[in-house]
Amino acid sequence: MRKAFLVINALLTLSLIAQLYLAALGFFSPPEDELFRFHGMNGRFVLPVLLLLWIVFGLFARIGRSNIVLTFACLVLLALQTAYFIIAGAMGATPPPNESTPGATPYILALHGLGGTILLLLTVVVFGRVRRLGPLVRSRADAASQPTATG
Ligand code: HEM
Repeated sequence: MRKAFLVINALLTLSLIAQLYLAALGFFSPPEDELFRFHGMNGRFVLPVLLLLWIVFGLFARIGRSNIVLTFACLVLLALQTAYFIIAGAMGATPPPNESTPGATPYILALHGLGGTILLLLTVVVFGRVRRLGPLVRSRADAASQPTATG
């Protein structure tokens, strides 16, 4: 179960790295190509599915309370990625082609880059912490037949 958790963790981290690439792809391409849509699609569909699976497998794989808290913190960070747009929109910001970023809205929207990066780093941290836990030991009999996890 911990192996499955780590596989999903790796996919999530890779998908977050791809998310940064896709953001830059959207930024550096002509607006009429609409290449930002790949960033939006990965962010709206792939990342939430992987993150929810990650949390569920984390609960079953008994990764420990602090790691579970970290996975839920990642869920909050992902939800905030959308919330920054909603808050800025409520304050009058509008997306291209009629882009407008009045008042403090650029500072709110910039949290999207920071929050996403923190989210990526947290998935790397959780991966390392859970890998150090070693495989999940199911029973005393299993425990007796397995070497003790160290670290
Ligand atoms: C790993 C880091 C990042 C993550 C996890 C992330 C996540 C997301 C998510 C979940 C959405 C969908 C929001 C929604 O429509 O509900 C989104 C959209 C968007 N993101 Fe990011 N993002 C990241 C980095 C960036 C960066 C660095 C930029 C810099 C420009 C950026 C710009 C945008 C824009 C403009 C949209 C709207 C795209 C659209 O309308 O289709 N993101 N992002």
